[in-house]
Amino acid sequence: VTFDPKTLDPQLVYKLLIGSVLPRPIAWVSTISSDGVRNIAPFSFFTVASIDPPMVCVSVQRPEVSWKRAKDTIGSIAETREFVVNIATSELLDQVVMTAVSYPPDVDEFVVAKLTPVASDIVAAPRIAESPVNMECQLHRMINLGADVLVIGRVVRFHFRDDLLDSRLRMRVNLLRPLGRLAGPDFATEFNSVKRSVPFIESPEAL
Ligand SMILES: Cc1cc2nc3c(=O)[nH]c(=O)nc-3n(C[C@H](O)[C@H](O)[C@H](O)COP(=O)(O)O)c2cc1C
Repeated sequence: VTFDPKTLDPQLVYKLLIGSVLPRPIAWVSTISSDGVRNIAPFSFFTVASIDPPMVCVSVQRPEVSWKRAKDTIGSIAETREFVVNIATSELLDQVVMTAVSYPPDVDEFVVAKLTPVASDIVAAPRIAESPVNMECQLHRMINLGADVLVIGRVVRFHFRDDLLDSRLRMRVNLLRPLGRLAGPDFATEFNSVKRSVPFIESPEAL
């Protein structure tokens, strides 16, 4: 079956995209507004954007374009130009889902989801203590892409739980247990790891 996205309702195009690009890692983004309200939200349109300098990106839908108020995360990042990407893990699934609810802008989502804020080293936004990997980010650029905005952040500090990295800084993925988003209500909480040597030895991934 073949589709021309121009002739499809955007909600259906969304289904085709999230059903095809998966599993997606989840950036659990913590921010603080200029009024001091802390916010957390998960975003699975998330990946590495560059290595040197290190940048990550998340794509956020702009419901205000069609029907609802803007997402608090975007308001806070636009005001403060700072945020933290916390990596979502399988044991945190229930709290990840709790922070996806669209609460009024004055609600502290650390309190709602019973999560612990930890002061960041560089940015004002707090890290989530329960998440084992945190990246403090400064906004590089926000790019409007129709009904979505791509947020690119420069990582200015990495934090890892002490047991996670081996002596060569490789991630012990079985300890991290990263959470993946599939489509609809489905999440990936476990994965099978299969080893293959990759012939691109110059790639940083192979080091
Ligand atoms: C696992 C998961 C992944 C999500 N990924 C995205 C995403 O990539 N982009 C997006 O705009 N919303 C995504 N959402 C929805 C937002 O998390 C949700 O709209 C949230 O309420 C926004 O919060 P805020 O208004 O506090 O910023 C996702 C929700 C879940 C549960």
